[in-house]
Amino acid sequence: MADLATGEGLTGAVGGVEAVLHLASAPGGGRTHDVDVLGTRRLVVATGSAGVRHLVHVSIVGIDRVPFGYYRHKLAAEEVVRAGAVPWSILRATQFAEFLDELLPSASRFDPTIGDRAVLAQPVDPGEVAARLAARLAAGPSYAVEEFAGPQVLRFDEAARAWRAARNSRRPLLPVRIPGRLGRALRSGGLTTAATPTGTRTWADHLADTYGGTGRR
Ligand SMILES: NC(=O)c1ccc[n+]([C@@H]2O[C@H](COP(=O)([O-])OP(=O)(O)OC[C@H]3O[C@@H](n4cnc5c(N)ncnc54)[C@H](OP(=O)(O)O)[C@@H]3O)[C@@H](O)[C@H]2O)c1
Repeated sequence: MADLATGEGLTGAVGGVEAVLHLASAPGGGRTHDVDVLGTRRLVVATGSAGVRHLVHVSIVGIDRVPFGYYRHKLAAEEVVRAGAVPWSILRATQFAEFLDELLPSASRFDPTIGDRAVLAQPVDPGEVAARLAARLAAGPSYAVEEFAGPQVLRFDEAARAWRAARNSRRPLLPVRIPGRLGRALRSGGLTTAATPTGTRTWADHLADTYGGTGRR
């Protein structure tokens, strides 16, 4: 066990290790700077001292375009990795299908599903992201930022409609327009990428696996 927020256990965790896959992150609770930025710096220093030969860092498509506070920290963490002495690779993934699936109930808390119909997403299967990361680890440091996404770009209303159908829900969609720069970035595809290859598993595949024929989890 190592704690990136304090550095405790880090030296022991990376000692004798050839490659490190850095997935840790603290998106909520006000700890993002400590864990994602300062913690990544602690990790880079510890892996450098331990002679680790490859640091693979997982990041998010659109962190340089979409003005979320969390994304500013993810971008800063990437910069720490890039500036460090340990040979590196960065893989930016789009939103995991499970993440979108967890987000939709909070958008539906007040009965209608509330959302900006035109926001674009490209959900990806986390298993396919894991396979991509394993391949990157095996291939060695790329010194590049690679992007990996799901096979389809979906509008929020399409994704929400399919989600409601899979759950046998007739909730209406209450459209709102996310204002400002954030809304523009989300509607113009800031969270999507044209990078290929993409994963193969679709949002519909995820819904069928999760809700099956009954429409209930
Ligand atoms: N979810 C998505 O849609 C998505 C999309 C693209 C990229 N990513 C990136 O993929 C990575 C994994 O995402 P996820 O959704 O699986 O994240 P997650 O469920 O929030 O998991 C984050 C992990 O970081 C660990 N962690 C938190 N604070 C830590 C600390 N101080 N020291 C050490 N470990 C700590 C957590 O451990 P504990 O559980 O013990 O706290 C947990 O295992 C993140 O870097 C994220 O930015 C996620």
